[in-house]
Amino acid sequence: MSMPKKAPEISTEEGALEALRPQRFEDYIGQTKIKTNLQLIIDAAKGRGEACDHLLFYGQAGLGKTTLAYIIGREMNVNVRSTSGPAIEKAGDMAALLSNLEANEVLFIDEIHRLNKLAEEILYPALESRKLHLIVGKGPSARTFTLDLPPITVIGATTKVNMLSAPLRSRFGATFRLEYYQHEDIERIIARSAKILGVAITPEAARALARASRFTPRIANRLLKRARDYAQVYKKRSIDDEVVKATLDMLEIDDLGLDETDRELLRIIVSKFNGGPVGLKTLAAALNEDMETIEEVYEPFLMKLGLLNRTSLGRMATPLAYEHLGLQRDKKLI
Ligand code: ADE
Repeated sequence: MSMPKKAPEISTEEGALEALRPQRFEDYIGQTKIKTNLQLIIDAAKGRGEACDHLLFYGQAGLGKTTLAYIIGREMNVNVRSTSGPAIEKAGDMAALLSNLEANEVLFIDEIHRLNKLAEEILYPALESRKLHLIVGKGPSARTFTLDLPPITVIGATTKVNMLSAPLRSRFGATFRLEYYQHEDIERIIARSAKILGVAITPEAARALARASRFTPRIANRLLKRARDYAQVYKKRSIDDEVVKATLDMLEIDDLGLDETDRELLRIIVSKFNGGPVGLKTLAAALNEDMETIEEVYEPFLMKLGLLNRTSLGRMATPLAYEHLGLQRDKKLI
């Protein structure tokens, strides 16, 4: 008796997001300039029969850094081994990772800015001259061994490129900054993902979901899945405007994609600091949120929407922020 065919593994949250990841450049929507550049680098490396150059991606979370690394592996026809800065605790961990790679393989290091100094120092000569310098033993009896590595590609990803040391940054053959996606690209990503998930969505609903997606594919796909849940439970045949509205209401996300913390941040600047300027530290204390999260997660999005300005004196709410919150300037909440 033959076993039933296994259904594609898309039942878990991460599994589903995985299934939505484009596998090839031709399926990857947006970041056009980066794709063109990468395709050229890959074609040239393949033409020479060499490993692809080391690459560094930076930009906000969810914009596709990991996806690109896996696409590069697939286009180069090689394995991608994945790790992250904080997972590499000791120099020996880095040495073990590097020495286990086979010719032309890709080592993807996420959050590369969190690599510790000792691991970073093992990485330098590996990136530059394919050498692994190992120190065996301690004190006066310590010995240094040098191993040759096969040609490999290291792809680093970070949300904080300024936290990478200059020597490390300079060892990548090319650095790419992933930008927020265009609204139309997010709409296309939602349409593609809906097809993969087997759920119908109206063009208006795709537009409304895209608007609330913070210009970020990962968020677009998450919202789409929540809308799909809603449509399923309430027996709707497709995701329409009404389903999107109800889904966003439930998640307390407004039509611009602001969540409760975004709104609270703006409200605090307006009501407690009269619209600003207010320093990051003061704002973080008032919002009870850490400075880093404010700076890296909330502010870039609010600035992109034109709701917040960073000035030399501090953060300021823009007239658009007042309008969006339904507030008047120089007045408290109405
Ligand atoms: N899913 C997540 N990111 C994507 C992208 N850039 N293109 C297509 N589908 C995606």
